[in-house]
Amino acid sequence: MTAPLLEFRHISKSFPGVKALEDVSVDLRAGEVHVIVGENGAGKSTLMKLLSGAYAADEGELLLEGTPLRKNSPKISEQIGIAMIYQELTLVPELSVADNIFLGHEIHKGPLLNRREMERRTEALLASIGIAVSPRTLLRNLSIANQQMIEITKALSKNAKIIVFDEPTSSLTSAEIAELFRIIAALREKGVGMFYISHRLEEIFEIGDRVTIMRDGKRISTTAIAQTSMDRIVEGIAGRRIENVYTRTPSERGETLFALRNLSGGVFKNVSLQVRSGEIVGVAGLVGSGRSEVARAAFGIDAYKSGDVLVRGKPLPRGNPQTASRAGIAFLPEDRKREGLALSLPIRENTVISALSRLNPRGIIRRRKERAAVQKYVDDLEISTPTVEKLTNFLSGGTQQKVVLAKWLLSQAHTFIFDEPTRGIDIGSKSNIYSLMDELVRQGAGILMISSELPEVLGMSDRIYVMAQGRIAGELSREEANHYAVIQLAFSRPEAAAEGGTPDER
Ligand SMILES: Nc1ncnc2c1ncn2[C@@H]1O[C@H](COP(=O)(O)OP(=O)(O)OP(=O)(O)O)[C@@H](O)[C@H]1O
Ligand SMILES: [Mg+2]
Repeated sequence: MTAPLLEFRHISKSFPGVKALEDVSVDLRAGEVHVIVGENGAGKSTLMKLLSGAYAADEGELLLEGTPLRKNSPKISEQIGIAMIYQELTLVPELSVADNIFLGHEIHKGPLLNRREMERRTEALLASIGIAVSPRTLLRNLSIANQQMIEITKALSKNAKIIVFDEPTSSLTSAEIAELFRIIAALREKGVGMFYISHRLEEIFEIGDRVTIMRDGKRISTTAIAQTSMDRIVEGIAGRRIENVYTRTPSERGETLFALRNLSGGVFKNVSLQVRSGEIVGVAGLVGSGRSEVARAAFGIDAYKSGDVLVRGKPLPRGNPQTASRAGIAFLPEDRKREGLALSLPIRENTVISALSRLNPRGIIRRRKERAAVQKYVDDLEISTPTVEKLTNFLSGGTQQKVVLAKWLLSQAHTFIFDEPTRGIDIGSKSNIYSLMDELVRQGAGILMISSELPEVLGMSDRIYVMAQGRIAGELSREEANHYAVIQLAFSRPEAAAEGGTPDER
């Protein structure tokens, strides 16, 4: 038998207070998609960073086609054909597609750059995986999905034999995900070996060949996808059976806490909605239908043109998130890393910031009280950290998101606007977050939940607004709502209807 393309052998790696990896052995074969799943903080990204040369292992070795790799660094890793595709992209927005692809390994003609040759090769590479983008387009003019395709093309330009995808689909539309999967399948045919990390478990069955489950830095199991099931994977990840992911107890509806009245702005028009005490209101729609834009404008991050934001019936002054927060609104943004956290500060400070005056009346700082308050959410959300004093910069991606959530839960707001609350969150923690939401509304809060995960919207919402083309295309009660009804509205054309035109009958 020939040696696998790549092998991690008995790898261990520690950070202060955390054993991130413990005796992990995993291999990758040419032409396979090896999925890695596990809770937030399980060690998935750390394992991949050993491969990219960003970190060095404390113990164990890395073998490339059977030969131990004595030393690794980002440069060596690149030379031996390893490429990483992260959710956050690493390309240069102001450069063209071709310039990005050849950045760092430009083709020269004498002392000059050979632009024409680089463009010609870029074109051929793009064609080889079926991407229709001009090599001269500036990167910033491409969608996130297309930028990701360019990252992949860049990897191919360097003849990558191993490609790592770390949560690549979290901001893609379903059509874009289909496109990515088509490319991954083409790469598999070319014999490229791929590691694929994702919390969207349904994806595993679509593109995976084998799946490795990790928990607390250890490898729990590696199985052929054909020989496992969703239930077994979920149980392996969480370390327990999860019977009901969604918790909803009927709760009494009270006053209207939050409302938008004919809100119009950049991409959205005439949006009216209400959130009452005791209810979870879902906002469904396609990626790009204007849901996040509405939420950002309502919370005062972005401007809007006309209409009103009403808190308990009173208009909220525009354009000021501090005012919104003081009025009792909490907002969990889609891009948590950039907008929700001070990365250079510890978990405790990031969390208590929204509750400082309540925890420390008369301005006297009570560290112990703060710590206890934060610890409750660290436990409830299973935030994986040795201490609440850890800097958020060093937390795993999903753990960072949980910290932002903890911050708002602690704020004692009455209205919570959650934009994709469980994106990047592991399955076990998802179910904890749902029961926390349920608890919040039982205590009288109202929740407006934007989500692209249909099962989540259907499982948690009392009512659902569906947006399409920047407008509310329709409203569904819990009883009326189902997969089909939501999708039909999401693909409808409310604009044509609003302007009195005839809806497209096709
Ligand atoms: N540079 C670092 N310094 C300190 N601790 C770190 C560092 N990098 C990772 N860790 C810790 O190592 C553990 C594993 O983190 P890792 O990012 O590998 O998790 P993950 O499985 O990718 O999680 P997620 O699903 O949330 O992305 C976590 O406890 C994390 O806080
Ligand atoms: Mg990670």
